[in-house]
Amino acid sequence: MPIDETHPIANPYGYFDAANREYVITRPDTPTPWMNYLGEGRYGGIISNTAGGYSFDRDPRTRRVTRYRYNSIPADQPGRYVYLRDQETGAYWSPTWQPVVGRQLEAYECRHGAAYTCIQSTYRGIAASLLYFVPPGEACEVWVLRVKNASDRPRRLRSFSYAEFGYYDALIDQQNLDWGMHIVHSRYADGTIVTSTQFRPTLTFFSSNVIPAGFDTDREVFIGRCRDLANPIVVETGEPRQSEAPRGNNVGSLCHDLVLAPGEEQEIIYVMGVTDDPGTVAPLLARYGQPREVQAAFEALRADWDTYLSHFTVETPDAEVNAMLNFWNPVQCRATLYWSRFVSAYETGLGRGMGTRDSAQDTLATVQAAPARAREVLDVLWHLQFQDGHTWHQVFPLTGEGGPGLAGEFLDWPQWFSDDHLWLVLAVCAYLRETGDFAYLDHHVPYWDGEGAPAGDDTIWGHILRAVDFTLTHRGPQGLPRLGFSDWDDTMNLDHGSGKAESVWCAQQFCRALLDLADLCDYLGKGDNAARFRALHREMADTVNRVAWDGAWYARAFDDDGLPVGVQGETYHQIGLNPQTWAVIGEIETGDRLHRAMESAHEKLDTPYGMALMAPPYDRSDLRVRGTTTYPPGAKENGGIFCHAHAWAVVAAARLGWGERAYQYYRQILPLARTDADTFAAEPYVYCGNICGPTHPQYGYGRNAWLSGTASWMYVAGTQWILGIRPTFTGLQVAPVIPGDWPGFRAARLFRNVTYRIAVERMGPGNAVSLTVDGRPIEGTIVPFPPAGQTEVVVRALVGQRG
Ligand code: GLC
Repeated sequence: MPIDETHPIANPYGYFDAANREYVITRPDTPTPWMNYLGEGRYGGIISNTAGGYSFDRDPRTRRVTRYRYNSIPADQPGRYVYLRDQETGAYWSPTWQPVVGRQLEAYECRHGAAYTCIQSTYRGIAASLLYFVPPGEACEVWVLRVKNASDRPRRLRSFSYAEFGYYDALIDQQNLDWGMHIVHSRYADGTIVTSTQFRPTLTFFSSNVIPAGFDTDREVFIGRCRDLANPIVVETGEPRQSEAPRGNNVGSLCHDLVLAPGEEQEIIYVMGVTDDPGTVAPLLARYGQPREVQAAFEALRADWDTYLSHFTVETPDAEVNAMLNFWNPVQCRATLYWSRFVSAYETGLGRGMGTRDSAQDTLATVQAAPARAREVLDVLWHLQFQDGHTWHQVFPLTGEGGPGLAGEFLDWPQWFSDDHLWLVLAVCAYLRETGDFAYLDHHVPYWDGEGAPAGDDTIWGHILRAVDFTLTHRGPQGLPRLGFSDWDDTMNLDHGSGKAESVWCAQQFCRALLDLADLCDYLGKGDNAARFRALHREMADTVNRVAWDGAWYARAFDDDGLPVGVQGETYHQIGLNPQTWAVIGEIETGDRLHRAMESAHEKLDTPYGMALMAPPYDRSDLRVRGTTTYPPGAKENGGIFCHAHAWAVVAAARLGWGERAYQYYRQILPLARTDADTFAAEPYVYCGNICGPTHPQYGYGRNAWLSGTASWMYVAGTQWILGIRPTFTGLQVAPVIPGDWPGFRAARLFRNVTYRIAVERMGPGNAVSLTVDGRPIEGTIVPFPPAGQTEVVVRALVGQRG
């Protein structure tokens, strides 16, 4: 399929519109639904390029508004739909293409922006557009329908909206239909549909700013027998039935008459939302019934994202890198901060809630531009910590209910993960470096099991110490951290109750956490603590080097019997990626060994689409390893390209000073650079979680877009390690590791309320940096904080040796 060459960043299904900061999808039949997120982490939902998706308020499991059928045929239904019907010819269609997919639209375009989506199309002389967004701070969404008569004769049309309401508890909606479908019902009054549940205050409303010609709320009446969303009887006949569902499947369908002279345009504003207080509905509808208010809310939304995105901007010689770092990557990072791994086209909003390790990592890239929300998330996660120092693995955001996640399915195995609590330590250090909010260390959060205990409500600092102690007191036979149920790799299940399996990678993660803490203590003047953490680091690093070095790379883990995984003698999984990258990140060595380890990873694991997580993959079930071997070879943790882990290769390469390779790795998984959309299939504007590896029949196929730790880490990798602009306790560091042929780049970075305008120029090969700050040369690569009151600092960085 051809690519539109007029746009510099394009693939056969669309292009990035840099001026408007929107990904424009130009064909509705994308290989998978290409999604976007609405809302700012409270009320909101997902929406595809053909308006599929669903809405909820804060928690998709326990406060669901609309339904979505994962695995449905046709795919990606239902959604937020409007049907149009020509009253003269009886022809009807959907301006969003779905759900009346049979029509050949004369024009189609979907624009996904930051927290809004606009889909427009033309059919038989009628141009229609639908803009969807959530007004900031409201528990409702707005759909703005504009219909224009682009033909040269008067036209009479009817529109029919369609939203399918779910029972508020989305699990019951799947599991207990007998009950759920008896107690949900709808009423219509004064242009508004209200769907409620027996004996509960929660109600969903659906309304519009134009008095309807009719309505329907009973899905079966609206669709008719033996029909589906492509040909509802009400739309086909053009006659709403005024059905008020006494039970069953409830929908929001309002019918409007549109009489349009040639060139005339009409607008209908739909408002859908949820509340426990019926008294709030009328004022809300009065407000968003006014186009002026809707416009103001949309502008407020855009302004909020502009502010969020203004904390870091960059201009490099690579347009795709710019598009990613200035826009899509931070947009994706905010979605992960809001929704962890809970709700997407792959995560059903039923099972997982927020993951402790996942959400802690999601804060790493958002402490910069959304520090308050990141801190809120950290508080929620610290409350999951038990007094012994380990944490629950997941939590449901609305109820606060914590749990062991996957581990709960295997009660004889450890019920904790070796890395969860350590991510929290790393996240707090990142938060403090960024914000300087050191008072956070004195902030109190109760332990999960702390009620009534003497120190059951501890400071963040106290929580951190217990996290460190948990790892120290849960070491295995060789002195490495015990693996627990697993470490970062959920499928690395080597401990079947022996309590002996150990994680090399977790040891390296622990090393990183100890160094971050040592730096923090240095800065806070806690010299004894700093010394203790450094000594612990040395001890753990020595242990790793002693027991896990396999001659050319580091082993991955040790099983119940002390046998290694990820070493040369094995048939499968001879080498893992993470222990090589984290040897560098955890600074467990200096010099040759680290280079050697990363060279081995490069040689054995790198592919044009990214680094495989390990090789060779297992081709059979293996009870020793369990989880990994439930996947076919080349998929996910079984030798697939795990983008999150790949991001650590970018960081590690940059830390070693490998400018070319860091950039090569960065581009390998850059979705905007994947022009082979029919192979990649996933959204080209956000990172996906994994890509099928070389041994998989669908090599190159991307899965699990949007909610992945890849977002956070690629942002950190790009901004802090390739561009080298990173916060430290003593100032902003500027130490780029960029490709040799980049003449330089420019960036603006807001750090602790000061804007740093940074110009980097390459003088010759290498990564040596000399800095000039406000015209004066300084020693080293850390720009010290300016005097109070100064809000701008100009930094010039010369990179590489002259001549
Ligand atoms: C998934 C999980 C994440 C885990 C990773 C590797 O992305 O959300 O928690 O670290 O898989 O297993």
